[in-house]
Amino acid sequence: MAYETILVETRARVGLITLNRPKALNALNTTVLAEVMAALEAFEADAGVGAIVITGSEKAFAAGADIKQMQSMSYVDAFMADFFAGWEALSRIRKPVIAAVAGYALGGGCELAMMCDFIIAADNAKFGQPEITLGVMPGMGGSQRLTRFVGKSKAMDMCLTGRMMDAEEAERSGLVSRVVPAGELIEEALAAATKIASFSLPAVMMAKEAVNRSYETTLSEGLRFERRVFHSMFALDDQTEGMSAFVEKRTPNFRNR
Ligand code: CAA
Repeated sequence: MAYETILVETRARVGLITLNRPKALNALNTTVLAEVMAALEAFEADAGVGAIVITGSEKAFAAGADIKQMQSMSYVDAFMADFFAGWEALSRIRKPVIAAVAGYALGGGCELAMMCDFIIAADNAKFGQPEITLGVMPGMGGSQRLTRFVGKSKAMDMCLTGRMMDAEEAERSGLVSRVVPAGELIEEALAAATKIASFSLPAVMMAKEAVNRSYETTLSEGLRFERRVFHSMFALDDQTEGMSAFVEKRTPNFRNR
């Protein structure tokens, strides 16, 4: 499929999506949404892909939802289109998705990164929810996901002042999993994705589902869910292979079943 706003490639077992609207600092319009979702769904359906990376440019992961597209939108337009609801489909992708963030991740850009399973940040990354400066507030999950990741005080600070957080603060606050030199971002993200893709895909997908469940349930229900999923893993050929390989001191040969 030919895309207008993203670049899509496969590196071994990793699917790579690069946001590519350089003149608009990768602002997220409805075409970007449709194309990112189409690429994600194609990778999800591709048995040759075990993990996905979403990235942008060195200057901007994404500088937010497209302000020029929203400028003349009315309330009824926004309501009838259920504007931004389409991005929720990203959280239904069952394979792991890593956000590799360099430069600006603002507004919808920060929110897109937070929809991914974890964020690897370049040391020049800047995160923020500046919607308040435009007379609005976050609409793609910023007030909810950011609060869960960094806590109420910092989320309030970010959403109410619109200030940016640098990579070091983002790591310290738990928003990003690691910070790497900007020039090594893609290699580091691809290396992490390649490592994940070398494991048993069903085990990886179940682990992702279990971690995500912790955001939606009580601790006791989450622990019960985890145990039940863990028990079910003893039906996987890959469990037999993984544990046998350990005992036999060899590299496992996972078959994703
Ligand atoms: N939407 C549309 N266009 C954008 C954009 C956005 N979010 N961000 C940047 N651009 C465009 C600029 O309009 C400019 O285009 P022109 O050359 O045609 O004027 C181009 O990208 C380059 O931007 P700047 O000249 O502003 O670049 P800079 O380096 O001086 O500043 C910046 C960079 C600080 C990121 C600045 O562009 C900026 O503040 N962008 C807006 C950030 C923002 O407010 N994001 C939130 C959007 S609302 C939202 O996301 C709602 C939600 O919850 C989902």
